[in-house]
Amino acid sequence: MTDERRLLAGPERTVSPRIAYGADYNPDQWPREVWAQDARLMQAAGVNVVSVAIFSWARLQPAPDSWDFGWLDEVMDLMHAHGISVDLATATASPPPWLTTLHPEILPVTRTGETLWPGGRQQWRPTSPVYRRYALALVEAMADRYGDHPALAAWHVSNELGCHNVEDYSDDAAAAFRTWLRDRYGTLDGLNDAWGTAFWSQRYTDWEQILPPRLAASYPNPTQQLDFKRFSSDALRDHLRAERDLLRRYTPQIPVTTNFMVMGETKGMNFASWAPEIDFVSNDHYLQPGPQGRAEMSFSANLTSGLAGGRPWFLMEHSTSAVNWQSVNVPKRPGELARDSLTHVAHGADAVCFFQWRQSAAGAEKYHSAMVPHAGEDSALFRDVVALGRTLADLAPVVGSRRAPARAAILFDWDSWWASELDSHPTELLRYRAEALDWYEAFLDAGVRADVVTVAGLDDGRTDLADYDVVVAPVLHVVPTALADRLERWVRTGGHLVTTYFSGIVDGDDHVWLGGYPGALRDLLGIRIEELNPLHAGDAVRLDDGSVGTLWSDRIDVRPGTEVLARYLDGQQAGRAAVTRRPVDAGSAAYVSTRLGAAGIRPLLGRLLDAAGVGSELPEPLRGRVELTVRRSAEAEYWFLVNRTDEPVGLTGLAGERLVSTTPDDGAGTAAAQDTLAPRGVVVLARPRERS
Ligand code: GLA
Repeated sequence: MTDERRLLAGPERTVSPRIAYGADYNPDQWPREVWAQDARLMQAAGVNVVSVAIFSWARLQPAPDSWDFGWLDEVMDLMHAHGISVDLATATASPPPWLTTLHPEILPVTRTGETLWPGGRQQWRPTSPVYRRYALALVEAMADRYGDHPALAAWHVSNELGCHNVEDYSDDAAAAFRTWLRDRYGTLDGLNDAWGTAFWSQRYTDWEQILPPRLAASYPNPTQQLDFKRFSSDALRDHLRAERDLLRRYTPQIPVTTNFMVMGETKGMNFASWAPEIDFVSNDHYLQPGPQGRAEMSFSANLTSGLAGGRPWFLMEHSTSAVNWQSVNVPKRPGELARDSLTHVAHGADAVCFFQWRQSAAGAEKYHSAMVPHAGEDSALFRDVVALGRTLADLAPVVGSRRAPARAAILFDWDSWWASELDSHPTELLRYRAEALDWYEAFLDAGVRADVVTVAGLDDGRTDLADYDVVVAPVLHVVPTALADRLERWVRTGGHLVTTYFSGIVDGDDHVWLGGYPGALRDLLGIRIEELNPLHAGDAVRLDDGSVGTLWSDRIDVRPGTEVLARYLDGQQAGRAAVTRRPVDAGSAAYVSTRLGAAGIRPLLGRLLDAAGVGSELPEPLRGRVELTVRRSAEAEYWFLVNRTDEPVGLTGLAGERLVSTTPDDGAGTAAAQDTLAPRGVVVLARPRERS
């Protein structure tokens, strides 16, 4: 099976060829009478896939030696009888009370030594051999029982691995950390060098002396902290591999996935390194509160596409309306259900699924929206859900199409995220993802497409720098020699690199590159900085291009041949360079020494893109008001036009056959006037591909 076939094998197996549509389905929360109604309503809504048994361990295995599969047999059969595929969970996400009572040593321990007790969910240590033994026994029982079931379309390993237990500081974690460190460094000398243990009398003389960075008397060693983040992510990935290997032994024909959490500040799991481990990438996304919420959603979907190497992926969860875990949980407005869903499809999702099918009557998530709300099927929300099912059916032609690469990209890196936000730094105010998001929003405002790609993707070939004319690498803090060389080669052959404050500073061991900042990128950028200069919260500096900087302002020495694009008007660096650009052979390397925010980046981005010959593909009046995303198959391009505003937008001048056109009234109707994009609406145009 080719990668692409495998990726699509899940949704295609019984519902070919359609966008998968569905939800987490938790029938074990409901009496049997409700199940038949569920199946009927699922059909009415066009649901064709459900994720089942995610939190069912306690029900499936009521005691160490007793199993209860009867109810799940019935559910699997019921789904099959209604033409609905099952993405079957391995059910290992939340261990049952009998297990944590029998083996309290599987419970995670925080940095401060507190145990995370049962009563919530996901209370297990990723490195516990005892938990692993019980979990794999359950996986084996599931694979054995359902491996041949005709409804089975995919395996769903655990659930949101690391959501609540990514950092565990227990003794199991300590032992596994030592093993991980031995693999990485080979010798204690290697570790001592990498961790810089000459500092503060930290030299280790025996592996057993090494601990996770538990609450210490002062700042724990930064490389120890960084390695512990790497290890913690890898430990969960090992668990994913263990379940996956077992599933592949039983059912090599069934694709395996797990739902990532590419969203907001969820940063413990390096999904760039997990994605190659599974047959298709899945993501969960919930709209983040705040003014950048929708830009963040687009950014996350775009990054998920980057993780998938531009291939289609699976939106495993989002919400039909309100969630329950913010301080105030407001419902979505008319049109937003369709707009949010199609934003993910625009970025390559071939599935639109929700948490969850039927809103719970009890439990911690009873106020979280679902496809069938408390009000029942006679509700505006369920009617919107049905309408969305129809819209997705109309989008069948896009299934299997890939993202059409943009000419610009944003380079995202988990190591830089982790390392740039460590403690005892020039500032604790820096937020890595926020800077990347600002640049992304500026691209959206300019109406210019930008792909979000990862450093790991460059390393393993998921992404080719040569596809891009412009790459923005915000706060690219960790720059090993190989990455610096790769960027320089690309710049010399015509690439235009843009980077920011606190970039190029350290190598992969978090050791500072000496000789002046920005270290590994200093020569390429044609600048030199002697002292890092963060700004206090609330301090702002004006630039002569009208923008305002916060957070940082470097004192830059500009080398001959490097241009100054903007200068500081006030503050410590008044009169000195704020933004520089060095022409390098066919390309260039630019440096932005302060935090401009999306609005401040916007005019600068225009100049940088102009210099690189990259522009918007949208007609002028649409730029900024409409998000354009393009998917591409062998025959056609699909232009997704998402209205970012609450006003109608005229679409004159855009060719193509309308596949769908959503409106706030019905969430999915065809009522929108021709050549108009409704407020909060989405239009998808199919355009035959031009052959060169
Ligand atoms: C996560 C989980 C779901 C549910 C939702 C609620 O995504 O996977 O089980 O808790 O959050 O938003």
